[in-house]
Amino acid sequence: MHPLKPLFSVPLLIACIAMTSAYAADPKAGAQKATVCLGCHGPQGKSSNAQWPNLAAQQPTYIANQLNAYKSGIRENPMMQSIAANLGQDDINNLAAYFASLPAASAGGDPALASSGQPKAAMCLGCHGPSATGNGQFPRLAGQHPNYLVTQLKNFKDGTRQNSQMQAIAGSLSEEDMTQLAAYFGSL
Ligand code: HEC
Ligand code: HEC
Repeated sequence: MHPLKPLFSVPLLIACIAMTSAYAADPKAGAQKATVCLGCHGPQGKSSNAQWPNLAAQQPTYIANQLNAYKSGIRENPMMQSIAANLGQDDINNLAAYFASLPAASAGGDPALASSGQPKAAMCLGCHGPSATGNGQFPRLAGQHPNYLVTQLKNFKDGTRQNSQMQAIAGSLSEEDMTQLAAYFGSL
């Protein structure tokens, strides 16, 4: 038997325990905390205002990252910054778990624009997932309000929203590309 083998397993075990506790979150506690969110993000996380994103079925890691980004001011929005300022890390994790647990909503998208957007969307799916349902830090785009998606793409393009990957990608998109892509993803 290799003499070092048992030594390697100890840090691995510690890493596993640390990861489990970091992601432990309570969706029921999140549901109680979420009452203040529903006025804008809609009951069950389905927003009826096209400028306000659906949160239902969004990736929990992504939701938590965004709430922390508003809290630290990396992502700027007056409404969300004042709300996130009052949330602790447990609140953030619980809210993320709650919204992630809700059934997905489809905002819909203009069919003609969506069919022009579909072929362009292939380049997005490597990160956003084959069905655009997201993965970890990569957000779900499927069913999101097209107007909201276009606003975010423009914000990445002009640098008002910062993320190196998305700034590079949005920089290569025309306004027409953005409208078509957003209609396609909204229609899913
Ligand atoms: C007064 C209306 C309002 C309330 C209340 C509100 N939000 Fe928001 N929220 C917004 C708007 C508007 C945006 C989009 C802001 C932007 O463009 O960055 C947003 C964006 C978000 C995002 C980013 C979504 C994405 O797809 O990137 C998250 C996460 C979020 N809100 C969570 C919450 C949570 C959790 C609560 C309750 C604790 C809450 N919001 C309460 C208006 C609101
Ligand atoms: C290399 C990986 C990658 C690719 C490819 C990619 N994205 Fe993203 N995208 C990201 C990441 C990471 C984020 C989250 C950024 C953050 O945390 O602010 C994101 C966020 C977004 C958002 C914001 C969503 C929200 O809820 O606010 C939109 C819209 C978006 N991407 C659209 C697209 C489109 C359209 C394409 C294809 C043209 C695309 N992305 C390709 C990595 C990628």
